[in-house]
Amino acid sequence: MEKTFHSIIEISKAINSVLDIDQLLETIMDAAIQSVGVERGILFLKLPDGTLQPRAARNVEKETVVNAEEISRSIIAEVASSGHYFLSSNIQDDPNIMQRPSVREFKILSVLCVPLVNKDSTIGTIYLDSRKATKVFTERDVEFLQTFANLAAIAISNAHVFEAAKNEARYWKGEASQRHGLENIIHCSEAIGMLCQRTRSVAHTMLSVLITGESGTGKELFARAIHYHSPRHDGRFMPINCSALPEYILESELFGAKKGAYTGSIADTKGLFEEANGGTIFLDEIADMQPTLQAKLLRVLQEGEIRRVGDTHYRYTDVRVISATNKNILEEIRDGRFREDLYYRLCGMELYIPPLRERRDDVVPLAHYFVQRFCDENNLTRKSFTPAALTALQGYSFPGNVRELQNIVRKAVLLSNTQDRIEEIELPKILPLRDDPEDFSEATKQHIVKVLEKVEWNQTRAAELLGLNRTTLQAKMKKLNISRM
Ligand SMILES: Nc1ncnc2c1ncn2[C@@H]1O[C@H](COP(=O)(O)OP(=O)(O)O)[C@@H](O)[C@H]1O
Ligand SMILES: [Mg+2]
Repeated sequence: MEKTFHSIIEISKAINSVLDIDQLLETIMDAAIQSVGVERGILFLKLPDGTLQPRAARNVEKETVVNAEEISRSIIAEVASSGHYFLSSNIQDDPNIMQRPSVREFKILSVLCVPLVNKDSTIGTIYLDSRKATKVFTERDVEFLQTFANLAAIAISNAHVFEAAKNEARYWKGEASQRHGLENIIHCSEAIGMLCQRTRSVAHTMLSVLITGESGTGKELFARAIHYHSPRHDGRFMPINCSALPEYILESELFGAKKGAYTGSIADTKGLFEEANGGTIFLDEIADMQPTLQAKLLRVLQEGEIRRVGDTHYRYTDVRVISATNKNILEEIRDGRFREDLYYRLCGMELYIPPLRERRDDVVPLAHYFVQRFCDENNLTRKSFTPAALTALQGYSFPGNVRELQNIVRKAVLLSNTQDRIEEIELPKILPLRDDPEDFSEATKQHIVKVLEKVEWNQTRAAELLGLNRTTLQAKMKKLNISRM
């Protein structure tokens, strides 16, 4: 007994020090074989579709793998009800097993197979057999192997979690350096140049940042850049759109919910504030948050503690908050729709991103950048614009800002199919822009009306076409006095 106990400790040390899954399975296989004192064995893991895959094996023939798989499948089917292993100490007495070709051909005398169970789910099996009369499996072997398998199952699950986390981290790191840094904010204008500088300096602080600007100007892009240039870049960046979800769902998305807090919620869930621990949460369209939720958010920011919906105790998280809105938030405060005290919490610093029409120097570099990106993404040879096409772009007002430019360029690339020069730019029909702001709003108005007419005043579709969100479109319609005749 003493000996068994020690070998279990030794084994658990060994398998818990290996995090690479393949290496771990080999270690488990060797340990199982050595401790039970046999020569042959197979370790199966269950794939998501339920099939069993041999992942490590010692000294077995193909035929044995097939039979071992069948035995494994039948014990796995039984495990749920009985937690059962399979032991046949003397196969000669077992007519069912004797039928199997490998048993006869390879003179297998005794078989032991135990499930690998972690947290109530069976993740695989360990199969061992013996072909020597001197080694017949006993109940003691079963007890040992089952204890061993329980430890191994935990180690395997840990290795899976570790691997998933590692892959995710690698993915995000790659993504981050490719897409989310300040170097990916394309610009020539002084306005954006200064904004990049301010972003870099604010990134190193813990200040909350409120990013304002029309839809499509790059608010989320800047929010990500702040995160990736901050000391928290190894933590997660969790964006959420506060205008898209009903209030009660938004609340549980943000703060989590206890099991049973809602009909149908079958498990405790973590909210984004917990998920973003050590990282950054991005509250997009913050001005659309309902007043009751604004009050709860304020509490969280003041106390630094959150409470899952339906839960009684508090949890602490360390999260940096960046928020964004395309509304005039001071107007929202004045009209009583947004809490002033929350605004001060959120706005440690404000970054305002001017609309694209007010920084026309950015149009051409952005257009070039998007063309190259789409060509690369679609495996097309790189294309360039004709001067006429560029002039057309520069004269346009982009009510949907950079997002609209991106859509226009994407369409132009696709329409130009094989040619390497892009001549045709399909712009929404709009009057050439003049410097007079009155004229500008008139042009925008006509453009919006035209789009609305095209989609029979379906505001959701019009907003899509314009690259705006619906609330922004509605605000613009109000401001420009647009209504259906
Ligand atoms: N200066 C820029 N350089 C490169 N891409 C940009 C720039 N500004 C905006 N974009 C792109 O335009 C799109 C809209 O930007 P986004 O950050 O979602 O805008 P907002 O959040 O203000 O609506 C995104 O695909 C973004 O990557
Ligand atoms: Mg956005």
